[in-house]
Amino acid sequence: MSPFRFISSTWKPLTTTTFILSTFLTTSLVSANPNCTEFRIPLTATASNEVFPIPVGLNYSNPAAISGLVQTVLGDAGTVYPVIPTTFTGIIAGRYCEPEVTIANRSDVVQLFMSGVTENNLYWFGLGYPNGYDGNEYSTVDYASKQGYPTFVIDRIGVGNSTHPDPILQQQVNLEEAVSHQLVTMLKAGTAVPGKTFNRVIFVGHSYGSILGNAQATNHPDDISAFILTGFGVSIIPVAADLPQTVPFPADLYAPRFAGLPPGYLVTSSEPGRRGYLWGKPGSYDEGIFEMDYNDEDVVGLGELLSIDAGLKEAPASTAPVYIITGDSDDVFCLLATCGDGAGSPQAQACSLFPKAETCEYFIPVGTGHMISLHYSAPTSFQKYHAFLASVGF
Ligand SMILES: *[C@@H]1O[C@H](CO)[C@@H](O)[C@H](O)[C@H]1NC(C)=O
Ligand SMILES: *[C@@H]1O[C@H](CO)[C@@H](O)[C@H](O)[C@H]1NC(C)=O
Ligand SMILES: *[C@@H]1O[C@H](CO)[C@@H](O)[C@H](O)[C@H]1NC(C)=O
Ligand SMILES: *[C@@H]1O[C@H](CO)[C@@H](O)[C@H](O)[C@H]1NC(C)=O
Repeated sequence: MSPFRFISSTWKPLTTTTFILSTFLTTSLVSANPNCTEFRIPLTATASNEVFPIPVGLNYSNPAAISGLVQTVLGDAGTVYPVIPTTFTGIIAGRYCEPEVTIANRSDVVQLFMSGVTENNLYWFGLGYPNGYDGNEYSTVDYASKQGYPTFVIDRIGVGNSTHPDPILQQQVNLEEAVSHQLVTMLKAGTAVPGKTFNRVIFVGHSYGSILGNAQATNHPDDISAFILTGFGVSIIPVAADLPQTVPFPADLYAPRFAGLPPGYLVTSSEPGRRGYLWGKPGSYDEGIFEMDYNDEDVVGLGELLSIDAGLKEAPASTAPVYIITGDSDDVFCLLATCGDGAGSPQAQACSLFPKAETCEYFIPVGTGHMISLHYSAPTSFQKYHAFLASVGF
């Protein structure tokens, strides 16, 4: 079987009831919804992954040991680790949505969404499907749908309904980028979404997902026609420095829904730590959406944290336009959550990673932490990046 082949029996349509409801909403109400279908796509991808120095007998239940290992690996930019060819064979799950508004010259363009760590496809729906927190207020997909864009939202390998591979050897930037490359190839060949061939793919990332976009711009510069990179910056230093407050802990021992996962699958086990690291200043978000995010968090593979510098680096050949959105209080990419503004900010500096980009612009939502699509400023961020897309020919 070709790894690219779409297996129709694994394409899961909505239930009849939901489907009829969504048809009804589309035709009867002013406020419609994007028409989404769950998918399960089998694929195989191969890349050279790094072999990291995991100490013998590493105590995964010791958050200080885990944070220390991440800080050692990320802090030592000069060290080149050996690589080995690594293969992922499994299912990529997610949701494909047709827009509720038809705009002819956007029908062959698709937005591909890539979440950050401990988040799955639901991040892009405002944390819930069919409705997120507070309706569609925080749904990036819903906004894109109203602008006429089809959207393809995946669970990265190791989260949501996608296959959970080895969280250290397999779940790394290089292999996840190879998976994204396969998906883009399939979207353009008409084998990802039955009956749909897309000519241009817009990559929309958050945090680790943005780092994967950076990696795709480096490794496959012809894949993507525009990059929207949210919760992103130029330096790896703050990412590791402020990580310990989240108290990384084995997912398996943390909650029954993660039972059976190997110990390299981690969660953030401190509620104040997750708040500080990912959400920034109180008052910039609804407490209810923070609680939902903390209670429903997904996992992060230790290999993802260790391999960040495989993605966060200059993409010398990519010409696609880039738009960066990172809050002024982002504690992941700015030390002590103070990003500054203007040309010296990590947001502006991140444009240096795309020296050949047709254009690179940035937006710094004020008072906003790391969770760009979930803060009070989210609708402004949605509006800004779609205006950017229109300005560069979409
Ligand atoms: C919803 O999307 C599915 C799959 O893309 C398509 O077959 C169906 O016709 C769409 N329904 C409506 C009401 O547009
Ligand atoms: C691992 O670390 C935890 C937290 O420090 C500690 O409670 C536990 O005893 C350690 N386990 C082993 C086997 O050392
Ligand atoms: C996983 O699949 C189930 C069944 O289709 C669905 O209800 C659930 O929302 C999916 N999980 C995610 C994170 O999308
Ligand atoms: C797309 O179509 C709209 C009208 O529907 C037009 O205003 C816009 O300029 C077109 N964009 C491109 C890139 O052709």
